[in-house]
Amino acid sequence: MAPSLVDPFERTVNYLRLSVTDRCDFRCVYCMSENMSFLPKKDLLTLEELDRMCSAFIGQGVRKLRITGGEPLVRRNIMSFFDAMKRHLDSGALDELTLTTNGSQLGRFAGDLFAAGVRRVNVSLDTLDDEKFARVTRWGRLAQVIKGIDAAQAAGLRVKINAVALKGFNEDELFTLTQWCASRDMDLTWIEVMPMGDMGALDRVGQYWALSDVRAKLAEHYQLQDLAERTGGPARYVQLVETGQKIGFITPLTHNFCESCNRVRLTCTGELYMCLGQEDRADLMRPLRAHPDSDAPLIEAIHTAIGRKPKGHDFDYSRQQASGQMTRHMSHTGG
Ligand code: 5AD
Ligand code: SF4
Repeated sequence: MAPSLVDPFERTVNYLRLSVTDRCDFRCVYCMSENMSFLPKKDLLTLEELDRMCSAFIGQGVRKLRITGGEPLVRRNIMSFFDAMKRHLDSGALDELTLTTNGSQLGRFAGDLFAAGVRRVNVSLDTLDDEKFARVTRWGRLAQVIKGIDAAQAAGLRVKINAVALKGFNEDELFTLTQWCASRDMDLTWIEVMPMGDMGALDRVGQYWALSDVRAKLAEHYQLQDLAERTGGPARYVQLVETGQKIGFITPLTHNFCESCNRVRLTCTGELYMCLGQEDRADLMRPLRAHPDSDAPLIEAIHTAIGRKPKGHDFDYSRQQASGQMTRHMSHTGG
């Protein structure tokens, strides 16, 4: 039998989310502060090391790999990493290779991603208004992202839109965003804003918008059908009967998904977070770098870490710093 990663609560871990950079060409207010300092290059896993890491996880039973950041497509030469991962799709060891992106570089890379075996991408997009887009991303331009989405669809990639729900910001775009996604045959997932980034700036942009309210508002215009589909994460899905489109709701602050958690997160510095809402992590860079010729110590460290995967998270506003942010940014653990 092929090896598998099973945690103390009998959950099989078959999904790895890998952050390949902490950098980004945007500065979304809920994610980063305006003047972020980024990691020096020597602290990052090289592309070859990222390959070794992923291949070790895949060898131990990981079947789905999602590449995140920061913005994964701003990492230099990242396409060679995607190309290399294709061998695991070809061998049948990996079921899916995907990424979460802000879309800014898709115009350049969509075709290459498809050629590497990527079939689906999640694009983060909170508003269809140029001015609001510039305000929430600070550095982003909406037209470039739309071009990226066009390129992705033209290349044959299925695109899902992720929108962070912000009261007083994109509340008024619930139906325009839904319709726009429907017209382009894209599913749409709403994400509850988490206490990270520069929450001070967020106050000026919008605030927490409960997804129960997003759902209730949608139900005023559409017939919602609950879908049984679970991805092992914090998302729940409904289908809009009128458009056929799937709408997701990601509510990490509500403790309603830990029992089915199937994932771990590896940062670009080689730290494995067994739970998004806990500080505990395992240093996998050390066993990797200490043993250039053998993966055995790395594999052992992976199993030891999975053996420490906690039962659940405890997102709690008391864990924020005075400035209102968690000690680690989303761009570090990759969301
Ligand atoms: N709360 C919710 N979502 C966030 N993201 C980044 N920071 C936050 C936050 N504080 C989202 C991005 C993207 C994904 C990678 O994480 O919008 O969709
Ligand atoms: Fe970049 Fe995504 Fe963070 Fe925005 S949310 S700054 S696009 S990593």
